[in-house]
Amino acid sequence: MLKLDFSLTHAHVAEHALSAALPCALDELRSVVRREGRGADMLGWLDLPIAPRGEIERIADRAKRIQDENDCLVVVGIGGSYLGARAAIEALPREAPFPVLFAGVNLSPEYHERLFAALEGKRFAVCVISKSGTTLEPAIAFRILRNELLDRFGEKGARARIVAVTDRESGALRRMAAKESYADFAIPAGVGGRFSVLSPVGLFPCAVAGIPVREMLDGAAAALGRFTRDDAANDAVRYAALRHLLPSEGIAIEVLSTFHPELASLCEWWKQLAGESEGKNGRGLFPASTVMSTDLHSLGQYLQEGPRSILETFLSAAEPRADVTIPADADDEDGLNYLAGRRLSAINRTALIGTREAHAAGGIPVLTIETESITPGSAGELFIFFEIAISISARLLGVNPFDQPGVEEYKRRMFKLLGKPGTS
Ligand code: PA5
Repeated sequence: MLKLDFSLTHAHVAEHALSAALPCALDELRSVVRREGRGADMLGWLDLPIAPRGEIERIADRAKRIQDENDCLVVVGIGGSYLGARAAIEALPREAPFPVLFAGVNLSPEYHERLFAALEGKRFAVCVISKSGTTLEPAIAFRILRNELLDRFGEKGARARIVAVTDRESGALRRMAAKESYADFAIPAGVGGRFSVLSPVGLFPCAVAGIPVREMLDGAAAALGRFTRDDAANDAVRYAALRHLLPSEGIAIEVLSTFHPELASLCEWWKQLAGESEGKNGRGLFPASTVMSTDLHSLGQYLQEGPRSILETFLSAAEPRADVTIPADADDEDGLNYLAGRRLSAINRTALIGTREAHAAGGIPVLTIETESITPGSAGELFIFFEIAISISARLLGVNPFDQPGVEEYKRRMFKLLGKPGTS
């Protein structure tokens, strides 16, 4: 179960100030739960943890078929259409891991060249994910990969290797899936990209990768009960209220820091969730992330002594999944014998504790979000926790958490420069 430790934020936001902000945050939670307020039509993600059994079986069946007939799966999608799956796949241990690669995340020819080199001689399948069906990066990658599938496996073989995840009714990908009879999964109504990880958008790639998605949904369902509770002790509400209060204390940035490299993509998922949901009307904390202790040797200096405008939130897991014991050495030339016999997990945890203390002493608020261990269930819990908290904090800013009008601006200019028909 997730635990939050606010103790190192009290110097910046006193407990009584946080308590005073909770009624407004609770009001926003109630309106989310009642499916009211800004972006009320995009709250369908609240239903995702209780997915229909038939849908999960269909996902499992198709995933098994992809595994049986291929050497790897290429997931094509960008933003909310891939980050959740990537976060879960990289974070979670798998008994029988099946290789999953990602494409459609950039327009880099070098990336695509490397991707094709990795696919050389492999039987591969493609899962193309796009709610709109018109996003340029995945649309280009899908066209290139589909062409390759046709060349290698012919029309029938290519069709059998393509799975589309898209809007139930509309969009170019929905039309293509119908015309070409691709296997497909629908993104339920009212579910936007960055809130879609518990829909087929995240579940299908995870199932192919070998993650027990039912466990992930069960964890999410339990978290949904807990973090929608109308209670001032609800940590999703407290986290949202804290984030809302900190800008008036000079905080402009939230850095999600982890000592678990396997959580790096989960931090990327969180960055999109927070950044795209809140960054509107000149408001919102800028979300950044660090992976430690790697980044202590690059960004640690800034965190310790740079501008005091950062909330540092540590995302940690108490129990290690693996361990290594430090060996003794007869010569002790490196002077490490004082650590001989100790476990690397304990040393990593000590580094976390020391870093937390140091950064708090350096004058920034430090929050800790800790799970017991990284499991499919705790991943589901984290997804729901952040989705609820960020929905509340965005609404506290007076913005719609579920749109992203600013993203359209680069697209408009790029499409015009590219000469897309209908753009001016
Ligand atoms: O959160 C969002 O809505 C966006 O990040 C989208 O997921 C992203 O832009 C990809 O869009 P689409 O799934 O329509 O290709």
